[in-house]
Amino acid sequence: MRDETILAGGFGPLDEEIEATLRPRTLDEFVGQDLVKERLRISIEAARSLGKPLDHVLLSGPPGLGKTSLAGIIAHELGTTIRKTSGPALERPGDLAAILSNLDPGDVFFIDEIHRVPRAVEEVLYPAMEDFELDIVLGKGPSATSIRLDLARFTLVGATTRIGTVSAPLRDRFGLVERVDYYTPEDLFLIVRRSARILGVDIDDDGARIIAERSRGTARVANRLLARVRDFAVARAEGRIDGPVAERALEVFEIDRLGLDKVDRAILEAVVVKFGGGPVGLGTLAVTVGEEPETVEDAYEPFLLQIGMLHRTPRGRVATAGAYRHLGLEPPSGSQAALDL
Ligand SMILES: Nc1ncnc2c1ncn2[C@@H]1O[C@H](COP(=O)(O)OP(=O)(O)O)[C@@H](O)[C@H]1O
Ligand SMILES: [Mg+2]
Repeated sequence: MRDETILAGGFGPLDEEIEATLRPRTLDEFVGQDLVKERLRISIEAARSLGKPLDHVLLSGPPGLGKTSLAGIIAHELGTTIRKTSGPALERPGDLAAILSNLDPGDVFFIDEIHRVPRAVEEVLYPAMEDFELDIVLGKGPSATSIRLDLARFTLVGATTRIGTVSAPLRDRFGLVERVDYYTPEDLFLIVRRSARILGVDIDDDGARIIAERSRGTARVANRLLARVRDFAVARAEGRIDGPVAERALEVFEIDRLGLDKVDRAILEAVVVKFGGGPVGLGTLAVTVGEEPETVEDAYEPFLLQIGMLHRTPRGRVATAGAYRHLGLEPPSGSQAALDL
């Protein structure tokens, strides 16, 4: 399955092969998210001891933080097989029924972007999750009959960037609901070093630290920046990444000190300059910067909110004093932003 997760960072999809090579396979290899890991470890150990399938797991959080990796890790730690699909791929109930009826006992069934599963398909999921049963309707109209099939006891792992749009009945059928958060620079430093080791990239601690600090709290961005800085180092610095080489490379790729890229800055500039600090609606903002509203909302905005550059209000997005200052401007006196700090 292709991982079509949208991602801030200003680069095209990271080569799938590299991404697969870098994906952690065990809980021990998975850096950070300590409490999430601990709870998963406990549930996995219990399931194994009791000889039962693991409860269904719902993973939420922004793109690139490790949800797909965790799904694979869960299957690996359970010693079972993972079957993957995604919300948009499950167009009709029959698409889901075909997969469910082929699962073996204990399998992990991974649905990425589970918030995009169509309603009619979701209804098939409920009895499957709860009672491991599949209702199949044969025929149409008054002569339609339905038969019930028993399914293997499986574990559903769902991933979503939008926990808010997962319906309550679906959410309630997950025994474990976990949110992955942005990584600290310390965790990202470990991720950069791990990836460099796997890829055979020559990097010192300063270089790794600079990449870590500019990775928008996101593991996938850290890997992507490492790949770009490695290219720069190979082309311009005899292949070795140290602090100054990392700084120069990130300047060329227009990643600033906070790790913001051109699109991040375009968003801030639009709110601050074009819309006088806001509020501005998501749709208008997306059109202004030439991105899909969904991309702005899922991939860009959460980090800008997290680092206190934007606020979300009922009337739209508002720039903070920090946003003005990051752009080298002063918030106008009397403005909401000026009252912020
Ligand atoms: N905790 C982690 N430790 C090490 N690498 C990670 C971690 N989380 C994510 N990664 C790296 O980031 C990449 C993207 O992670 P992924 O699981 O695809 O994120 P998501 O599904 O949340 O978008 C992976 O290929 C992996 O190399
Ligand atoms: Mg994913």
